Formats: sequence, structure tokens, C-alpha cells
Amino acid sequence: MTWTKITRVENIPPREGRPVRIGELEIAIFNVNGRFLTIENACPHRGGPLCDGIVTGTAVVCPLHGRHFDLETGMPVRAAEAKCLAVFPTRVEDGVVLVDLTAGRAFNESEAAA
Ligand code: FES
Repeated sequence: MTWTKITRVENIPPREGRPVRIGELEIAIFNVNGRFLTIENACPHRGGPLCDGIVTGTAVVCPLHGRHFDLETGMPVRAAEAKCLAVFPTRVEDGVVLVDLTAGRAFNESEAAA
């Protein structure tokens, strides 16, 4: 794993997300009650900025058309036809959020069954 330092934890308030662009990649990091989760920022429907969505439980609601995505898996919660988002391992060390940008992947449904 290759961890990239992103920001201090206090820069992402609870139940909110923040966008981060690194080269061609734009991710959204969410603070889910002190647990930090990272997904691709662009909604697979029409590119809505998920970082601006409302966090409900461990899901985010796209601010444009209301589709829900699970922040742990990147999978759509309600719209079965929507594509999945890549998720990125995220951890906190000494008050800094770190993300493994090399490990982003779409969740495989077979993993859910395992
Ligand atoms: S752009 Fe996200 S639901 Fe349409």
C-alpha cells in the first residue's frame, strides 16, 4: 500500500465530505462519525459531486438526482442499474487522513457474498 497524506481530520467535519483532486483523480473523503471513508467524487449517473451530498448512515445521497451510494463499498444502495464507485483504503495517523490512491477499486459483488 502507498499512503498519501491528505489533510488533518479537523478539516472534514462529522457527516460531511470534502473533494480532493490529485492529478486526474478526484476523490471525496467523508467523516462518518470519526471514521473516514473515501470514494470517487463523480456520481456514475451524471457526474454529480458526491462530496456535497448528504451523509446518511454509511451512505451518501447524490446532490443532483438523489441516488444513494454506500461509502464502504461504492455500491448503489437503491438504484440497481447504477454503476459502482471505486473505494480507497483510508486511515488516520497522528490526526492526519491518509488514503491509498493506488488501491482504488470498484467493489465486487462476489466479495459481498463471501
Ligand atoms: S448525477 Fe448523481 S444521481 Fe444523477
